[in-house]
Amino acid sequence: MKYNYAASCLFGLEGLVAGELREMGAEDVAAENGRVFFSGGTEILCRANICSRFAERIMLYMGSFKASTFDELFEGVKALPWEAFIGRDDAFPVKGWSINSRLHSVPGCQSIIKKAVVERLKSVYGISWFKESGAGYRISFSVMKDMVSLYIDTSGEGLHKRGYRPKSNAAPIKETLAAAMAYLTGIFDDSQVYDPFCGSGTILIESAMLAAGMAPGIRRRFAAESFEQIPTSLWHDERERARASVKRDISFMAYGSDIDKAAVSLTTANAAAAGVGRLVKAHVADISGFTTSAPSGKVITNPPYGERLSDKKHAEQLYRTMGGLFIKKPGWRYSIISPEERFEAIFGRRADKRRKLYNGMIQCQLYMYFKVK
Ligand SMILES: C[S@@+](CC[C@H](N)C(=O)[O-])C[C@H]1O[C@@H](n2cnc3c(N)ncnc32)[C@H](O)[C@@H]1O
Repeated sequence: MKYNYAASCLFGLEGLVAGELREMGAEDVAAENGRVFFSGGTEILCRANICSRFAERIMLYMGSFKASTFDELFEGVKALPWEAFIGRDDAFPVKGWSINSRLHSVPGCQSIIKKAVVERLKSVYGISWFKESGAGYRISFSVMKDMVSLYIDTSGEGLHKRGYRPKSNAAPIKETLAAAMAYLTGIFDDSQVYDPFCGSGTILIESAMLAAGMAPGIRRRFAAESFEQIPTSLWHDERERARASVKRDISFMAYGSDIDKAAVSLTTANAAAAGVGRLVKAHVADISGFTTSAPSGKVITNPPYGERLSDKKHAEQLYRTMGGLFIKKPGWRYSIISPEERFEAIFGRRADKRRKLYNGMIQCQLYMYFKVK
């Protein structure tokens, strides 16, 4: 049976999500703002959840329609085949958002959508009361310029929650964004990666998992594991498939440092929890002492940036220090993410390439330096 799906992702990562989904065998892949639509069998649903590095969620796509009144919303929702997924005992909470639309009240939309699904299921199952004690089919909606789209979430917790980072430092980067930074810098199974502001180690860990071909979701569970449409054996087969593609005996290494001792301990603990403890080493150091005699390497980093003026000044000083240390050298690449628009001027060099990325709601650039001349 072929279904339609949508992957949600951070703005700026749509192309990467589309690429990885195609590689997984997804069909009809089409990227939009913050969403990538695709289709395929239920094995693709399992595979995308287990293997995606860049998506936030994998959802069943139920449909879209125009609605500018609650009546239109009700009728549009009621017309969709909810019974194809939601059984008579299943739970179906509703969540979503609305932007630039006449239906701007999110709680209002939420309650109308719930009522419409109940109405549809009442007529199909011939019951008037839903216990909602079974599997959870979370309905997700978006209303954008009066266009309503409806989905059923299959991921549960967001896919950035790989399960290896129960604890983090004060300003951790999202795992999906760290994975994108690693991918865009170009990681191979013999790369040497450095993060001199490693914090809880996210960039090092995501780089190591990418180098080793480790599926990020292999150690966690997903909402759709309790969907009756998907046999348990399929999840098992897809996990085995993912395990079989892990590369052993690679020469990749990731080295982290941080001024904060607690951050270094977190990096080591998180890397072990992610199954890449052997590939990640970290030590306490100030950026000003950053040196390496290695012939080649990739620095991928997320330095501190400040909201308050004093923090901003400190961040600027660090950018200046980095500019003096990250010099043009054959075999070396530097990728630095920052929301600071004057980054290049403070760092002291124009980036060879820039890529707009969003760290949550904060617009950043990934400044990439790789040219030697
Ligand atoms: C934005 S956080 C990095 C977060 C990291 N990417 C993660 O996912 O956890 C910046 C880190 O820089 C460290 N730091 C601040 N000043 C530093 C300095 N002078 N030298 C080295 N590390 C420093 C902080 O301790 C903090 O862990």
